Amino acid sequence: MRQYLIIGNWKMNGNLAENEQLLNTISSSHALAEGCEVVVCPPSIYIPHVRQQLLQSKVKYGAQNVNEHINGAYTGETSATMLHDLGCSYVLLGHSERRSLNHESDEQIAGKFAAAVQANIKPVLCVGETLAQRQGDETFLVIAEQIKKVVEQVGIQAFEHAVIAYEPVWAIGTGETATPEQAQEIHNLIRRQLAEFDVNIASNILIIYGGSVNSNNARTLFSQPDIDGGLVGGASLNADVFINICKAYN
Ligand code: PGA
Repeated sequence: MRQYLIIGNWKMNGNLAENEQLLNTISSSHALAEGCEVVVCPPSIYIPHVRQQLLQSKVKYGAQNVNEHINGAYTGETSATMLHDLGCSYVLLGHSERRSLNHESDEQIAGKFAAAVQANIKPVLCVGETLAQRQGDETFLVIAEQIKKVVEQVGIQAFEHAVIAYEPVWAIGTGETATPEQAQEIHNLIRRQLAEFDVNIASNILIIYGGSVNSNNARTLFSQPDIDGGLVGGASLNADVFINICKAYN
């Protein structure tokens, strides 16, 4: 039985006062029931503060990015062992904003994936197609390639504790969402692709959906058989909306 997972990706938003208020409301909510793990990913600089705030909470936290190296002369970067040191449980990898704005390649993302696994942090591998790729019928080809490159570099066993987030690029921050059927089709294809490498890993891995998830569409998305939760951007900055999304899993 796969557990549901809801991750809030705060991106480059928030400040000490707002974060505190957001976390107080989320952690005091009774919506965080059994069977659903709730995670927030603040900007790295706020991780120590978030850690402090969540000491007594069931809510977990993670990072939005990590460097592929363990340590060294990489000014401005953060390593997986440092994230582990601060108690991060998850790290987002290959988010489409990082793929496009920071030119991250599949090879580099695979390096980050390996570094996270080695440091005992669960990688959340983000994959997804652009609008042009969907219109050109390349959706699955693109996603299959993004996944294959990582599997080839890190090995399928490294996916045992990983999560995959399907995020169609055209749905991120646009208010446009994949229909539950569109999302289910891709989630199922991803699971079938992984099954070619390892059947158990394929059936146990959490595949979450991201792209304009909100409290109105969460329930129908999460009721699809291969959708195990959500990666929520904009809507995770509003405590009440985020709590409603967390409640939508059942
Ligand atoms: P969104 O972002 O929910 O604001 O579309 C999702 C994401 O980028 O992870």
